[in-house]
Amino acid sequence: MARRLRAGVAAQLPVLKAAGVNPGLAVVLLGDDPASHVYVRHKIKACEEAGIDSFLEKYEATLSEQALLARIDALNRDARVHGILVQLPLPRHIDARKVIQAISAKKDVDGFHVANAGALMTGIEGFWPCTPYGCMKMLESIGYPLPGKHAVVIGRSNIVGKPMAMMLLQQNATVTICHSGTRNLKALTREADVLVAAVGKARLVTGDMVKQGAVVLDVGMNRTTEGKLCGDVDFESVRTVAGHITPVPGGVGPMTIAMLLVNTLESARRAAR
Ligand code: GUN
Repeated sequence: MARRLRAGVAAQLPVLKAAGVNPGLAVVLLGDDPASHVYVRHKIKACEEAGIDSFLEKYEATLSEQALLARIDALNRDARVHGILVQLPLPRHIDARKVIQAISAKKDVDGFHVANAGALMTGIEGFWPCTPYGCMKMLESIGYPLPGKHAVVIGRSNIVGKPMAMMLLQQNATVTICHSGTRNLKALTREADVLVAAVGKARLVTGDMVKQGAVVLDVGMNRTTEGKLCGDVDFESVRTVAGHITPVPGGVGPMTIAMLLVNTLESARRAAR
């Protein structure tokens, strides 16, 4: 599905390019976090394959907040750039909130700016965060009717949990948000028609916590003690209970990147109109 979405973006580029618009994404990466480098490499590669211009800016972890804000200001003004993505997490001496708010909301293809969070909350045009957006696309792809369904989201981050809950709510699901302070998690997850796990706890969700036939979306990206990549869902025990389930790796991750391209294309379109 991610491949299809990316091909769809590629197919729409010639029309924009003929009109003189070359969609471009700037990716800013600080430091040497190995996972961040892998994510960024995938994002740049996806741009190249789709025909979106990419501008990768790599800096030392010691780059000052002021210098980073100056780069964002320059990218905000750069007409070749329609999307600006600052890879998170940022080094501790930098205030990530300040950096995100410095990105022009019109170029915030991550959908993290308060203006875009507010747009999602109130249902007006903006950018939706790529990971929950990709989850919604997957629910759409199986023709899943959300109205009246009970959706349970484990995790309340600004990147996934909160926007995911808002998107599900907008589709008229009844939404429960669970987090580290939630009592009797299992009683709630067992009631879920749609279960989204986005907490970063390896194999937290086991088969006994899932309702028969539920749709399970695994946003987790963890490493086991043996160094193996795994999600927040115990795939082997949950797959026999769930109606649909996404694997890790190869599920939500590729969809996130596909939605980044979709948002970047959309940003270029809006700039051209
Ligand atoms: N770090 C982990 N996920 C993301 C994401 O979706 N966007 C950015 N910018 N950083 C991240």
